[in-house]
Amino acid sequence: MQTSQTFSLSKLSLPTMGCGTWAWGNRLLWGYDESMDGGLQEVFNLCVQNGVTLFDTGDSYGTGKLNGRSEQLLGSFAQAYSGDNKNEICIATKLAAYPWRLTRNSMVAAGKASAKRLGRDIDLVQMHWSTANYAPWQEGALLDGLADLYEQGLVKGVGLSNYGTKRLRWVHQRFRDRGIPITSLQVQYSLLSTYPVTELGLKDVCDELGIKLIAYSPLALGLLTGKYSENNYPQGIRGLVCRQLLPGMKSLLQCLGEIAVSRNKSISQVAINWCIAKGTIPIPGAKSVEQARENIGALGWILNAGEVAELDQIAASLKKKMVQNIFQTQ
Ligand SMILES: NC(=O)c1ccc[n+]([C@@H]2O[C@H](COP(=O)([O-])OP(=O)(O)OC[C@H]3O[C@@H](n4cnc5c(N)ncnc54)[C@H](OP(=O)(O)O)[C@@H]3O)[C@@H](O)[C@H]2O)c1
Repeated sequence: MQTSQTFSLSKLSLPTMGCGTWAWGNRLLWGYDESMDGGLQEVFNLCVQNGVTLFDTGDSYGTGKLNGRSEQLLGSFAQAYSGDNKNEICIATKLAAYPWRLTRNSMVAAGKASAKRLGRDIDLVQMHWSTANYAPWQEGALLDGLADLYEQGLVKGVGLSNYGTKRLRWVHQRFRDRGIPITSLQVQYSLLSTYPVTELGLKDVCDELGIKLIAYSPLALGLLTGKYSENNYPQGIRGLVCRQLLPGMKSLLQCLGEIAVSRNKSISQVAINWCIAKGTIPIPGAKSVEQARENIGALGWILNAGEVAELDQIAASLKKKMVQNIFQTQ
């Protein structure tokens, strides 16, 4: 058990940017197949070499028979890696609040199963979502299990995902009573999903509580890369999202494009850098080494206050934005 003096000290320090791995093992939404694994390993290596040492995964990632694939790939890539920053690699997995996970021991068992797939200890374990919106009675035991993983020394840090301010404060109090610091909270945050910060006020609360705010889907599933147009939509569900949002976001893409030209950067790099400028840690997903290289180019410079304000203003004026995660709480 930690003393109150060490309470606020998380054992983990997170980098400026991370890499998301939802697509790694997901055929359904992201078109993954095993032939991509060599390229994904290159993505991993390039990221780590460049200080992008945080990798976000989840025990629910991977579709059908590939469930757990993202964790397995990350574990094997981390083990094989021998270059710079190896000791900084931080694997952050999310444990799902499945309806059949009811006890604190079920979360401890889930954490152990993830560690087994990874072939190493989990660095940061995160509650994938809160059950507050549909089964609030389920959540306490699962959070206690998450805290048990920390207390037993099985993880270096504990984080949350898809929590709003009210629920975050509730968990913070619960963990505080046991001397467990919350390292991070991840929410959907991008120029097309400003709700968690502008409406919920999460950044201020995270700063107050000493919690790092991680921005997931910072490229809005690819919409903020500038690669889609009305004649070129992606397949499947992402195509539907594109059809809904692209026509209304021309002013945003134009502004991103102008800043990108003046900065000699790409639209994706500006969109990711905006998250960094807002004090969050973006974790853009990358499926190829080219994408990873481009995303890494969001580091090493920063948008000025005028550019951020211009982007904020246009983002606020958009009529349609990304749909919030159904599990996002108040
Ligand atoms: N906590 C949660 O509930 C939650 C929910 C969602 C995501 N996440 C995490 O956040 C991570 C990132 O979010 P995300 O993957 O949903 O979306 P994202 O980062 O907004 O978009 C990633 C996708 O955009 C495309 N892309 C990435 N870089 C690109 C580039 N430079 N140029 C062109 N296209 C590029 C790739 O897909 P294509 O090549 O197929 O276009 C890539 O998979 C996830 O991987 C996951 O770890 C967490």
